[in-house]
Amino acid sequence: MGAVLAGHGLVKKYGSTTALGGVDVEVGERDSLAIMGPSGSGKSTLLHTLAGIIRPDDGQVLLRGERIDSLGENRLSALRRKRFGFVFQCGQLLPELPAEENVALPLMLEGVPRAEAVARGRRWFAPLGLEGLERRRPGQLSGGQAQRVAIARALAVEPDVVFADEPTGALDQRTSTEVVQLLTFATRETGAALVMVTHDADVAAHCGRVLQVRDGRISGYSQFTIA
Ligand SMILES: Nc1ncnc2c1ncn2[C@@H]1O[C@H](COP(=O)(O)OP(=O)(O)O)[C@@H](O)[C@H]1O
Ligand SMILES: [Mg+2]
Repeated sequence: MGAVLAGHGLVKKYGSTTALGGVDVEVGERDSLAIMGPSGSGKSTLLHTLAGIIRPDDGQVLLRGERIDSLGENRLSALRRKRFGFVFQCGQLLPELPAEENVALPLMLEGVPRAEAVARGRRWFAPLGLEGLERRRPGQLSGGQAQRVAIARALAVEPDVVFADEPTGALDQRTSTEVVQLLTFATRETGAALVMVTHDADVAAHCGRVLQVRDGRISGYSQFTIA
């Protein structure tokens, strides 16, 4: 039983800035990992490197044991669409499309016909507390509702890994708790692994493990027992 996703010896430099100075990290099925650390410590660079968005200068990224950091750009972007889901801080839904079509979009990009994609995407609306909001456009949703739609969209392709960069960064505390509970619960339901960047310790505490990053290196590590 290997890791779903692993990074080994990840190094990324921007000029004289070492954004990642040799990071090792692994996540398994139904595992959830929070990445915490001060601003500029390399959290987003780590998440984007694991997600195949940034190529490391050194080290490897393995998805179920297969290297992805050396894939060509076309294969890598196809892999990201099929096997990864993404939730960002905000503003990543298409404003002109109703919620259910935003959720269906990753499936349509994979060639699933529109009606089937919408039907498959709809299964997430009830578990995420979004029933009745299928036809709303993002401008007609609250911040928490919009993030729940983004979670549904990330899960639509049944990804191996869900990546979330500050998914509650624009939400108040109560809504943050709701959203992170649904994110961790729904991701675990699908069997996917979750990698989440957050600066909020209460949000991180919903993950099974917390990685502390400082100056591009792991500075601490803790493990929680999920109730
Ligand atoms: N595209 C880039 N070009 C130059 N420097 C960058 C770039 N992306 C990140 N950095 C630098 O790398 C370091 C880590 O950045 P980042 O991973 O975004 O930190 P965090 O997400 O923890 O705030 C910072 O010093 C940042 O300025
Ligand atoms: Mg960041």
